[in-house]
Amino acid sequence: MIIARSAQELKDALETKTGSVGFVPTMGALHIGHRTLIDAARKGNDTVVVSIFVNPTQFLPGEDLSKYPRREEADFKICSLSGIDILFYPDVNAMYGDDEVRITAPDVRGFILEGASRPGHFDGVLTVVMKLFNIVRPTRAYFGKKDAQQLAMIIQMVNNFFMDVEIVPMETVRESDGLALSSRNVYLSPSERQEALKLSAALKSATKMVMQGNLSSSDIKTNMESILSPLDVEYVAIVNRAFESIEKVVLGNTIILVAARVGTTRLIDNVWM
Ligand code: PAJ
Repeated sequence: MIIARSAQELKDALETKTGSVGFVPTMGALHIGHRTLIDAARKGNDTVVVSIFVNPTQFLPGEDLSKYPRREEADFKICSLSGIDILFYPDVNAMYGDDEVRITAPDVRGFILEGASRPGHFDGVLTVVMKLFNIVRPTRAYFGKKDAQQLAMIIQMVNNFFMDVEIVPMETVRESDGLALSSRNVYLSPSERQEALKLSAALKSATKMVMQGNLSSSDIKTNMESILSPLDVEYVAIVNRAFESIEKVVLGNTIILVAARVGTTRLIDNVWM
């Protein structure tokens, strides 16, 4: 495994490779969710590049940038055991200069749900993903459905800027009790972890209602809110793939999303119908 710490080092490393490039961008603190993306990239491509970069521009003032989990040694081991070819591990100076051109999230879809709770977050995500794509020039890039709105924004950016990369969406990986894996789960105390199960339980119950034929968004939301209580819920939303609110679930074109705080930890989860 080659470790590249700058755009130039990465380009030099890629010059020795031929064929398709599969890319998995991450912020590190790698878990089985990341691992699933890496395994898919490994299966589908000649060369696999993983990036680990805690991107400062997607954190708002007061968010967890400085305490975001950093696990260099464990992450390097996971990457090398996963058979990746190149690990891109830049520092902030290798990625950003002063007074830069930036990508801006779309006015409507970029500023609802996660974008409303974290204004400016998606500008930072899109900017760094654009930079990473331009450095890596991947054939395919792998993203989790766990971050559904992020995935939708990235697909839109790729379409809007006519970028030549295939985005591969991957299913959310969960613990056996339903909790969606997240680097932020390490913040949870044992009792908070128990409380956090309300997010997946609410989504499971929503899925059951749909399977039993109740497609009413307001009924489903009311039921979910009662399961989530007394958590500090930021939003429960039922949208189509274009992230427009819908009154009735349409199978094959609906995402049910939830964001809530458990203690001080902000968690998100969703199901795709
Ligand atoms: P990070 O939170 O590290 O996630 C990296 C990728 O792993 C994302 O595509 C995310 O959706 C996926 N992922 C996280 N948890 C998952 C789970 N339980 N199951 C399946 N996939 C999961 O998302 C980011 O980093 C950053 O915003 C990034 C895109 C790297 C830009 O900085």
